[in-house]
Amino acid sequence: MPESLVSETAARTAAGRATDTLFLRACRREPIERTPAWIMRQAGRYLPEYRALRERYDFLTFCRTPELAAELTLQPLRRYPLDAAILFSDILIPLPGMGVDVAFEPGPKLARTVRSRADVLALRTPDAREATPFVGDAIRLVQRELAGRVPLIGFAGAPFTLASYMVEGGGSKNFDALKALLYGDPETAELLLATCADAVASSLRAQVEAGADAVMLFDSWAGILSPGDCRRFALRYARRAFEAALAGSGFAPPRIYYAGQAAGWLEDARESGAHVVGVDWRVEIDEAQRRLGPGVVAQGNLDPSALFAPEDELRRRVHALVRSVDPRLGHVFNLGHGILPGTPTDAVSVLLDTVRAASERRLP
Ligand code: CP3
Repeated sequence: MPESLVSETAARTAAGRATDTLFLRACRREPIERTPAWIMRQAGRYLPEYRALRERYDFLTFCRTPELAAELTLQPLRRYPLDAAILFSDILIPLPGMGVDVAFEPGPKLARTVRSRADVLALRTPDAREATPFVGDAIRLVQRELAGRVPLIGFAGAPFTLASYMVEGGGSKNFDALKALLYGDPETAELLLATCADAVASSLRAQVEAGADAVMLFDSWAGILSPGDCRRFALRYARRAFEAALAGSGFAPPRIYYAGQAAGWLEDARESGAHVVGVDWRVEIDEAQRRLGPGVVAQGNLDPSALFAPEDELRRRVHALVRSVDPRLGHVFNLGHGILPGTPTDAVSVLLDTVRAASERRLP
C-alpha cells in the first residue's frame, strides 16, 4: 500500500462538510466570485501517478480498496487547484451485488446479459452499505483528508445507462439488444429500469450518508434515444433514483445529471430533477443554459480533445466558453466528456488557469 495515502493526522480529524465552498454555492445558484471547475475522469490514465499505481493493481482492486480509491480521488487535487473532488469508482461497481459480475478488459465485460423478464426478476437490489462497503469507507477517508476544503461528489450510473450495460453485456455501438427490449417488451424494460433505479438510489444514499457533498448520475447513453423515449426511459428513472436516494434522509445535496448527447432533448433535462445538468460540446454552453431554463445550472462543456491543441488555441477556446455564458443563469466549468488518456498534464493547468482568469470579477 503506498505510504502517501491518508495521513494519520488527517484520519484523526473529524470529517468536515464542505457546505460553503465555491462549487456547492454555484450548484445552489448562490453568489460566487469565479466559475468553479472540475474535470470528469480527473483521476485516471493521463496522470503519471495513476499509471504508476496501475502497474501494481488492477482497476477493480483500485475501486474495492478504500485506501487506494481515496488516494486516487486525491491525486488530481494534489496536482491541480480543482474546485471539486469526485470519488474514484465506476458506474458498474453495484452490478456484482445485483448478481451480475463485471470484468474490465479494459472495457467492461459483464458475466451475463439481462434481457428477459426472468433475468430481471433474478436481479437483487441489496443495501449498498452492505454490498459495496468499500465505497463508504473510501468516502470517509477522502473526507478526513479534504476536511471541508473541497467538496466531494459521489456518483452512480443513471438507471438507463446502467440498464444499457446489463442488456448489451458491455459497451455497444448500436445498442441493438437494448432497443429490441425497449421497443419490443417495454414492460420488462421498465421493470429493469425500476430495479436499476432502486440499486442506484441505494448507492447514492450510502454515499451521502458516508459524507458525499453532492451526487451525480451519469447518463452517458441517454442520447441514443428520441426525446419521447428519453423522457420515458431515461429522465423519469433518473428522477426516481434521485428522489428515492434522498427521501426522508434529511440531506438535500446538489444533484447533478450528466446528459450525454442531449442536444435533441435539453429542454426536458430538468425532468431528471437535477439542479445541475452536464452537457457535451455538441451544443454551445450559452444555448444549453437557455434551453435548460432558469433554475438549472449548466455544467460543461469543452471538447476533451481541445486539451491536445496548441496552448494559445486551448486558452482561446476556454476563454470564449467561459465568457459566453450568462453568469446569472449559472455555470460550472467541466469538459463535455471524460478527459482522454494521453492528455498532456500541463494542458490541465492551462485550462484551470484560464477558467479562473476569464471568470474572476465578472459575476454578479
Ligand atoms: O471521474 C472520475 O475521475 C471518477 C471515476 C470514474 C471512472 N469511471 C473511472 C474509470 C467515473 C465517474 C466513471 C464513470 C463511468 N464509467 C461512465 C460514465 C461516464 C462516461 O465516461 O460516459 C461509464 C460509461 C463507465 C464505464 C466504464 N468504465 C468504461 C466504458 C470503461 C472503459 C473505458 C475506459 O475509459 O477505460 C471504464 C474503466 C474506467 N473507469 C477507468 C477509469 C479510471 C479506466 C481503468 C483503467 O484501465 O485504468
